[in-house]
Amino acid sequence: MIHYNETQKTFYLNTNNTSYVFTVNEHSHLEHIYYGSKVEEFQNIEDFKIKYEFELGSSTSYSKEAKGYMLNNTLLELSTYGKGDYREPTLHIELPDGSRTLDFKYVSHKIIKDKHIKNMPQATKSQTLEIKLNSLEIDVFLYYTVYEEENIILRNLELINNFKEDITLDKALSFNLDMLNKEYTLTKLDGAWIKERHINDTYLTKGTIRFDSKKGVSSSDHNPFFILKEPQTLEDYGNCMGVGLIYSGNFEANIEINPQNLLRLNIGINSFDFRYTLSHQERFITPETVLTYSNKGLNKLSQNFHDFINNHIIKNKKERPILVNNWEATYFDFNQKKLLAIAKKAKKLGIELFCLDDGWFGRRNDDFSSLGDWYYNKKKLPRGVKGICDKINKLDLDFGIWVEPEMVNEDSDLYKEHPDWAIKTNHFTSSLGRNQLLLDLTNKDVTSYLKETLHKLFSSANIKYVKWDMNRNFSDIYSNNLQIKDQGKFAHLYVLGLYEILEYLTNTFPDILFESCSSGGNRFDMGMLYYMPQTWTSDNTDSYERALIQEGTSMIYPLSTISNHVSGDRSHQVLRHTPLESRFNVASFGILGYELDLSKLTKIDEFIIKNQIEFYKKHRALLQYGTFTRISSVRNKNHTIWMVTNKERDEALVLYFQDKALPNPSFETIRIPNLKEGNYKITSRTQYMNIRTTGSLVNHVLPIKLKVNGTLLNMIANRFKYKEDTFSKNYTSKQLQNCDLLLHHTFTGTGTNDKVMILPDYGSRIFHIKREQTQWN
Ligand code: DGJ
Repeated sequence: MIHYNETQKTFYLNTNNTSYVFTVNEHSHLEHIYYGSKVEEFQNIEDFKIKYEFELGSSTSYSKEAKGYMLNNTLLELSTYGKGDYREPTLHIELPDGSRTLDFKYVSHKIIKDKHIKNMPQATKSQTLEIKLNSLEIDVFLYYTVYEEENIILRNLELINNFKEDITLDKALSFNLDMLNKEYTLTKLDGAWIKERHINDTYLTKGTIRFDSKKGVSSSDHNPFFILKEPQTLEDYGNCMGVGLIYSGNFEANIEINPQNLLRLNIGINSFDFRYTLSHQERFITPETVLTYSNKGLNKLSQNFHDFINNHIIKNKKERPILVNNWEATYFDFNQKKLLAIAKKAKKLGIELFCLDDGWFGRRNDDFSSLGDWYYNKKKLPRGVKGICDKINKLDLDFGIWVEPEMVNEDSDLYKEHPDWAIKTNHFTSSLGRNQLLLDLTNKDVTSYLKETLHKLFSSANIKYVKWDMNRNFSDIYSNNLQIKDQGKFAHLYVLGLYEILEYLTNTFPDILFESCSSGGNRFDMGMLYYMPQTWTSDNTDSYERALIQEGTSMIYPLSTISNHVSGDRSHQVLRHTPLESRFNVASFGILGYELDLSKLTKIDEFIIKNQIEFYKKHRALLQYGTFTRISSVRNKNHTIWMVTNKERDEALVLYFQDKALPNPSFETIRIPNLKEGNYKITSRTQYMNIRTTGSLVNHVLPIKLKVNGTLLNMIANRFKYKEDTFSKNYTSKQLQNCDLLLHHTFTGTGTNDKVMILPDYGSRIFHIKREQTQWN
């Protein structure tokens, strides 16, 4: 709810559990008062303003008349440089006379309905508060939207140049928030290729922590997101605040503590390599920022983001299909026969969609050629995309296709025809990334060409899914298409060009499910999710690494966006062996797929995968849209425990994933919080083990003696269904929440039966918990 108290000149933005309060102060600046747990209206608003009776030594007073009023010590909703505020500003603008000092003051405010921004990713809105501020010939509009249910405040700003001459934006961030520091710890999601979004905590001290992307994409180095948490905050306890940006390109985030221990936060388009000239009456709009606050720890903060993204960012809210992707099965080495063999087996196992990955077009047999040539390779697909699609459809599977439209190889027909469409400067040979160049999406000829080409491709067959890849970062930034004075707009205009293409294609093909990818998760952000509801989380599909990656990703992004595949043994990324059941158990928390040569499965693996798929289908709604909770993590314990609960809170699935097998371990226990009052049945998912796991101990498991590594054992191991322990018990919700529930004791080398959990390194279980209709005690 948005409420303006006329007497106090104060804005109250209330959600179900939080309040955000700011006021128009006596100097007409917007002064921040409070953001935190819900409070009633302040009767004593003056008591909450930072006030110095006298000027501090060596500081700058705002004016002769207001000696104790120093902008460096005021909590501001919008900040500029030049009037004594020395912290990182929201806006930095060069005026027509070359000066850079501005001082924005409140003019008016109003509520606008159903605000929509053209060609930018954004949240759906009903009511938005618009506050108009002015300084000289520039008007700034601050926007605030309140999402009561999700406990979210959405902010961004827009400005208009009313000078007759040009002005230049050197910095235009999306929002500013100043608060008192509360000994916060900063949590970021840092990483790199195949280790994206690892949780990283840093204690804040005086000065600025700035993190950014200069790569043209939001990048896996740092996600455009951060959390500030008070001391002692844990997953289910304590106060914390989260900030996320709806944008897919270069960004910066600043978290600053000034000498008086005031905290400043801002985030937005990276000011590095950004110079944006605005002519008379031209407007500039910044990406939206999502803020949330939780006094119940990090899980609640994440759940606020999850609900918000599912309800207000993502358009496609359907349940997602289980797919098979041929990349790790074949890489570039495939023909129609090989693909169909995989597809046939996929159908038999219950898979619903076949995605044809890289290598189907031009002369593409490696990653040196053909990006840009979006027509089929006759040798690999004799009857083209339609031919293979029809054959896949005949198997009763949907068909999807991989594209990487933002790129071109020098060895391609497109490059021969339009070398000027690739990004390069006039002075250097362009540096390559994965042997490819970026297309200039600031050029309308390029975006129109891509729209047309992809339109043709997507309508050429019954395509139900598109994987949109992007495999290199920016370099050699320059556009022949832009004037010299506009070169500093490049990175942002590229992103806007991409958004324009995506807006067009996703509107034209509403029935295609789009999955975003950038060498895995190099562009996992809310901007891309607005157009493509799921993202290929990481090229790393090892289940241990995925436990870390998916856990970090879940800090902000919901399960419905996190795409996971079960790959073959061993992991192609880290050469680690993890049990097939664990690869599934971790991958099932989100959008499930398989990425291995299904046509070469052993009988036992076939049987296991069939069971996994049946289980996933049965619980798909829960695993894609349920409420996700992190209970424990291999970051600081020997196991990761995750839980997903339905809306009614009477059904849940719990993952128990172990890091290393421990000798003579203590009993493993779990607690299952937040279920509705009642009586519950908890059962483990039926899992099967390859008897090779037991090594030479196999002779003690089987009734007959076999030669380890002998042909007979291999034959048996490929078929024998060794059923793992089955856990089935009844508990009350109070017991589940408060008592340590004992799991079966783990195998310790002295014997086994159906009450012993054989849990090797990276072993895991999934437990299903459901409220019983009948009373049993
Ligand atoms: C990078 C992606 O992350 C992979 O899944 C695969 O699609 C390759 N590109 C294909 O080149």
